Amino acid sequence: MSLRHFLADDDLTSAEQREVLLLALATKAARHAFRPLAGPQAVAIIFDKPTLRTQASFTAGVAELGGYPMLVDGKLAQVGVRESVPDVARVLGRMTSAIVWRTFGQDRIEEMAAHAGVPVVNALTDDYHPCQILADLLTIAEHTGGLSASGPALAGRSFAYVGDGANNMANSYLLGGAVAGLDVRIGAPADYHPHADIVARATAIARESGGSVTVTTDPVEAVRGADAVATDTWVSMGQEAESEAREAPFRAYQLNDDLLGQAAPSAIAMHCLPAYRGKEITDEVIEGPRSVVWDEAENRLHAQKAILAWLLERLVQQ
Ligand code: NVA
Repeated sequence: MSLRHFLADDDLTSAEQREVLLLALATKAARHAFRPLAGPQAVAIIFDKPTLRTQASFTAGVAELGGYPMLVDGKLAQVGVRESVPDVARVLGRMTSAIVWRTFGQDRIEEMAAHAGVPVVNALTDDYHPCQILADLLTIAEHTGGLSASGPALAGRSFAYVGDGANNMANSYLLGGAVAGLDVRIGAPADYHPHADIVARATAIARESGGSVTVTTDPVEAVRGADAVATDTWVSMGQEAESEAREAPFRAYQLNDDLLGQAAPSAIAMHCLPAYRGKEITDEVIEGPRSVVWDEAENRLHAQKAILAWLLERLVQQ
């Protein structure tokens, strides 16, 4: 029917996000039996930043779907340096069925999508990490009563994120969580609050989905009674020079047993990994009984298989 991309969390409507999450649950159950791609069908996978889970889950995922995971070395390709983004997009678009890219600016992946002629999937940019949020929504569903029978995927459940409110994870939780109908709370230092545009976009989506959006400097207010609590590194890839300066402002936002104790008694603790124990999360929490971080990591595979299959199905129907 149409060429669609997954560049930001709100590229999917609430109904579409629910469809993708349902497909992810089905692919997880069927695992190797779901093979919508034809053997040689290649998916280009490019990294301009470090990776473990994303490379592993996309390569395994494309192989499990029946296709060929074509790793394109970001250091060799030097997208936008050696060749312009549109030129790379047009070349890879002629050879592959989809392009998965982890890069810096959101403008770069938007440019790739504008010229590729095949679906483009955001495998993390400075602004968003939408594949991680799909995996996290799947994980929340599995641990808090499943996907809603109709309407937004996680209607009626609450989710808190504490830490860097201005990074890609916070942006994606706001947008993807609002699409899912979640009550999304962000607890972050005032200097690290999400950009007003993102909050406005998430609030507008939440108005439609029945969710809600709260941004506060008070970590306890954010976490109180939440069904799921997440954090992320205080120093995202590309911000390494700010490591020291970022330590003090975030200390009060550490996800530890005390803070987790403010959440619902059955609350789950989440982290997209890699985790810096003793910084944004304690060893007790990540290794504790409420931690679902390994489920989250595994769900990257299932969520990404689902979004790729969903995008390619739409293209085939064109
Ligand atoms: N905010 C982190 C997420 C890592 C998966 C980063 O961008 O480095």
